[in-house]
Amino acid sequence: MSEVFPLKDPVRHIIWKGDRLRVLDQRLLPRRISYIDCRTPAGVAKATKDMALRGAPLIGCAAAFGMALAAKKGGKRALPEAAALLKSARPTAVNLACAVDRMLEAARFCPNGDLFAHLAGAALAFYEEDILANQTMAKLGASLMHRGSRVITHCNAGALATAGLGTAVGIIRYAHHLGKIEHVYPCETRPYLQGSRLTLWELMRAKVPATLITDNMAAHVMKTQRISAVIVGSDRIAANADVCNKIGTYGLAILARHHGIPFIVAAPATTVDFMTPDGSAIPIEERSASEVLEIHGRPIAPAGARARHPAFDVTPHELVTAIVTEKGIVRPVNGRNLKRIVLGKK
Ligand code: MRU
Repeated sequence: MSEVFPLKDPVRHIIWKGDRLRVLDQRLLPRRISYIDCRTPAGVAKATKDMALRGAPLIGCAAAFGMALAAKKGGKRALPEAAALLKSARPTAVNLACAVDRMLEAARFCPNGDLFAHLAGAALAFYEEDILANQTMAKLGASLMHRGSRVITHCNAGALATAGLGTAVGIIRYAHHLGKIEHVYPCETRPYLQGSRLTLWELMRAKVPATLITDNMAAHVMKTQRISAVIVGSDRIAANADVCNKIGTYGLAILARHHGIPFIVAAPATTVDFMTPDGSAIPIEERSASEVLEIHGRPIAPAGARARHPAFDVTPHELVTAIVTEKGIVRPVNGRNLKRIVLGKK
């Protein structure tokens, strides 16, 4: 497979071992590199639900292997139950359902013979498709960057969230390789801290100059640090091009508009959901309040305090400058252009 540029520090975060899926436990990063072996679809669903692996494209890839594991244990009859289990692991990222449906489709067209080998092959093909999509997005997205770019990103839309280079971080890394990136400001991303734990870790390993900011510093940084763009990933893009991503993304888009800064979204076609008419119809995962009330198990609020943790928010398409997909760049951002680029339809 040809690469846009050599990835010097490949993060081995999901490894297909032929009879199981080995998953890097991202909950322990950046402190420790430790793996979990998933031998069943239930194991993959649990690792996904518990956030050992996360990021929209990556949970899709893992679910595809989960379907192969279902076929290994129970053949064709085991697929519907495994599909339901895997799809329910997390509700917002549509890549999960997309991957599972792709495997069900592959099973329907399995030539007589080994269903497990057939689905394992289909899962590997899905995984490799994401690597290629990342590379194409990196090239397209970097073409939007100019020399001396100073960018803000949110959550982790990097190698840890995909099969390849990453979506938003893939663009940043390739643009850096081309000498276009002067500095990156990853937002910490409360409450799960994907920005500080994962994105900063990736950027530092790749030697991309980066400075961590807390989420509430973004307005000040936009105003004072000559920010050229905000670049984020997405978990689901609705038919009208509204963009769902990690909680806090919507606020960044409003701030970017106020400061006249381009707001760029990068996502593969597997993230686009033409069945969901607009952002208001996207299911938003509500996670445990304890993730807000505690850090590493230690309380940071009074005992008995209430909290909420909607894990995602929706940015109206009017606030998005461009959506970079592997099929092309959607700009101006609206439903018609999304359909034209992603489906190749007028
Ligand atoms: O809850 P997470 O960590 O799975 O959320 C991940 C994000 O919101 C990412 O920005 C998104 O999945 C895009 S990843 C290429």
